Amino acid sequence: MSGSRGNSREKTCCCGSCCTLLISLGLAVLIYWAIFQPHQIRATVEYAELSNLAVSNASSPVAVTYHVAVNLSLYNPSKRVNIYYDAIDAELLFRGAVLSAAAAAAASPAEFYQRRKTAETVRLEFDGKGVAVPEGVSAELESEVKAAASLGLELSVRVRVRYVFASIKIRQKPKVWCAVSIPVPRAPGGLGVLGSGDRCWVKY
Ligand SMILES: *[C@@H]1O[C@H](CO)[C@@H](O)[C@H](O)[C@H]1NC(C)=O
Ligand SMILES: *[C@@H]1O[C@H](CO)[C@@H](O)[C@H](O)[C@H]1NC(C)=O
Repeated sequence: MSGSRGNSREKTCCCGSCCTLLISLGLAVLIYWAIFQPHQIRATVEYAELSNLAVSNASSPVAVTYHVAVNLSLYNPSKRVNIYYDAIDAELLFRGAVLSAAAAAAASPAEFYQRRKTAETVRLEFDGKGVAVPEGVSAELESEVKAAASLGLELSVRVRVRYVFASIKIRQKPKVWCAVSIPVPRAPGGLGVLGSGDRCWVKY
């Protein structure tokens, strides 16, 4: 008799701790879900312009001068989570070769707070003056500029963000990568404009 009573008490006790475990597990899943339901930012090039373009092959290595401005739209798809953008570092590349080493991109705004389900446009400006082009890609760059059709550039952006849900904050460093093909200006002082580009890749 007493043995079986002890058994049943043990069972209730075990069931109780099971329930506690299940509830806390459920709560953790719920919080995780609330934060990580569609949360990956989306990025699109809205507008890009190219000016002051000049390629000089008078000396080796080939040097390029340019001004590129890009309006990058960043969208927060989350229904619950707001995002702090703490830092935006952008690089401009041509066929994988960095063209912006000497010309740090100015991002504006450089940091901001983004509410759920909203988009923010960040303007990135690159100002290159006589940037050395690696030998491997300089011939391609020269021929694209000479063809005066469009210049295929790549935009690589590292973003430092904090996801904010109630009092919970989670840091992430997504990488954004965009192919930006801007028409080469017809006249030396002209402006090449890309009206709207494709969606960019975002990798977490
Ligand atoms: C340098 O550029 C000019 C004009 O585009 C071209 O005619 C010439 O062949 C180029 N020189 C070399 C060494 O590539
Ligand atoms: C690009 O962004 C700048 C600054 O945010 C804005 O003033 C300008 O109108 C934008 N250009 C286009 C074509 O959207």
